[in-house]
Amino acid sequence: MDLVEAIKSRKSLRGYKPTPVAKEVLTEILDIAIRSPSGLNSQPWEFTVLGGKVLDDLKQALQEQFLAKIEPHPDFPLQPLTGVYRKRQIELAVALFQVMGIARKDTEKRDQWTLKMLRVFDAPNAIIVSMDEEVSSYLAMFSLGLVTQTIALAAVNFGLGTCIQRVLVDSPEIVRRIAGIPESKKLAIGIAIGYPDWDFPANKIQSVREPLANLVTWRGM
Ligand SMILES: Cc1cc2nc3c(=O)[nH]c(=O)nc-3n(C[C@H](O)[C@H](O)[C@H](O)COP(=O)(O)O)c2cc1C
Repeated sequence: MDLVEAIKSRKSLRGYKPTPVAKEVLTEILDIAIRSPSGLNSQPWEFTVLGGKVLDDLKQALQEQFLAKIEPHPDFPLQPLTGVYRKRQIELAVALFQVMGIARKDTEKRDQWTLKMLRVFDAPNAIIVSMDEEVSSYLAMFSLGLVTQTIALAAVNFGLGTCIQRVLVDSPEIVRRIAGIPESKKLAIGIAIGYPDWDFPANKIQSVREPLANLVTWRGM
């Protein structure tokens, strides 16, 4: 598949077919993705690939956390968005809720959406991207971002969809327990992966981008 086509066609998918992704395909995707660059070639990334009962158990436990009103407590603290960044966050939420028929004040439907998100959008597989606490620095997090995007792009080549999901690591001790990840590993992000359900309304969304002209400064040219 053409690289530009893959980059342009990748988008976060939030509805999947139940068909599990073959281990061989997931292996190939990760094998491609580890060609990503990393600071000092430290290759700080580690992957825990989930499916079957383990993923079902995780989906269940994450939903229970939400229903018990446990606040997110990720390994890497969250910072609420403000200003233009918050505006973009809201724009996305409005677009998603509109296409999903969720009214702003309909707390029940909003909760249902959060539960679906915590069920990894009902994807058959998920990848938890982690790093050893020994390397959990700026360089490592940057490098994990690169490998995560490369996974998402490689997945497109195999007809797969992904959604990079912070919420999957909001209760890291639960993920570590169910997925058998040692205490010494810091969880950076989760990725939903599976065959897209193109009929799912949220998958029709194309997220907006700020025009390049507002983002780039040219000097000396
Ligand atoms: C670090 C990171 C965390 C994200 N966490 C979530 C999440 O928890 N739930 C979700 O629905 N989407 C999540 N996303 C997906 C973003 O909402 C999405 O990438 C963004 O809106 C741009 O849309 P696109 O991926 O379709 O181009 C995350 C993306 C990134 C890069």
